[in-house]
Amino acid sequence: MTLPSSPPSSSPLSVHGDRHFDGLADKFAASLYGGVRGELRLALLDRLLPEMLDLRGQALLDVGGGLGQLAGWFAEWGHPVTLAEPSAEMLKRAREALLEASAEREIILLPAPLQALPEQAPGPWSLIACHAVLEWLGDPRAALATLAGLLAPGGQLSLMAFNRDALRFSNVVKGNLQKALDDRLEGKGLRRRLTPISPLTHAQIMAWSAELGLEVREVAGIRVFHDYLRSPPQTDDDRERLLELEWRYCRVDPHWRLGRYLLYTLVRRDTPVSPASSSVSSPTSSSTSLQDQEPL
Ligand SMILES: C[S@@+](CC[C@H](N)C(=O)[O-])C[C@H]1O[C@@H](n2cnc3c(N)ncnc32)[C@H](O)[C@@H]1O
Repeated sequence: MTLPSSPPSSSPLSVHGDRHFDGLADKFAASLYGGVRGELRLALLDRLLPEMLDLRGQALLDVGGGLGQLAGWFAEWGHPVTLAEPSAEMLKRAREALLEASAEREIILLPAPLQALPEQAPGPWSLIACHAVLEWLGDPRAALATLAGLLAPGGQLSLMAFNRDALRFSNVVKGNLQKALDDRLEGKGLRRRLTPISPLTHAQIMAWSAELGLEVREVAGIRVFHDYLRSPPQTDDDRERLLELEWRYCRVDPHWRLGRYLLYTLVRRDTPVSPASSSVSSPTSSSTSLQDQEPL
């Protein structure tokens, strides 16, 4: 494994307007992966990824790989993994976790943001994962274009994105009515907030994919029930029941549409789309000021 060496930044946002997770690693690890939300996410991915992807031990590029759980999962499945991550703090934790869990596996840690990958890891890749990253970027559409450019023809992109429509729904459920009416849903990426700055809609993903020559092969909702519960499951039995419900309905209409995250398999078409067929317009999101924290 290689070690990260990027210098600490004084602004929480990168030159691209992205929220790298330096300063957020502890909070992210505790608030997401330290609880039921993280457990559900990983348990659902463990079941969904083998169904949604054609996995044949291909080399994987994990973009914005964070704490390394997904990289570890793919390594366990026999894939050589390159984990790219711009946050030195996240990479350090990923390195520690992966060394412990997957000592014998082939995992390269690359201290780089998505925008640098066409130079630093051009591929082309037949398998890329980018989970829960686009919503932290200033220009998620440009990022999806970069990912499309890194894919080999016929290559698969496992994309997971924070669902803006689910964010609205959970705000209403929590009683944040004026915030929902004003459509002030996004975070600003400042301080130690974990509300994403660019939550995305299914309509945006569909439109951008069409424009970029990516075919949407599969879609699922991650946590279609959990984030709307009035009280979290208290017992192991209830947690198990909830997982079974999440699993049963994560690909069933209309439930998947309100998953906290939307998980896609996008496949790069063999031939690029012509400009004439790429004129799908996409909805824009309004800028907001943050009042309530909406955790991942
Ligand atoms: C919510 S975490 C997701 C981490 C991991 N993919 C997962 O699913 O647990 C978002 C990650 O995106 C990273 N990130 C932010 N801007 C990025 C960029 N421009 N390129 C790549 N990763 C970026 C952050 O540093 C952080 O580790």
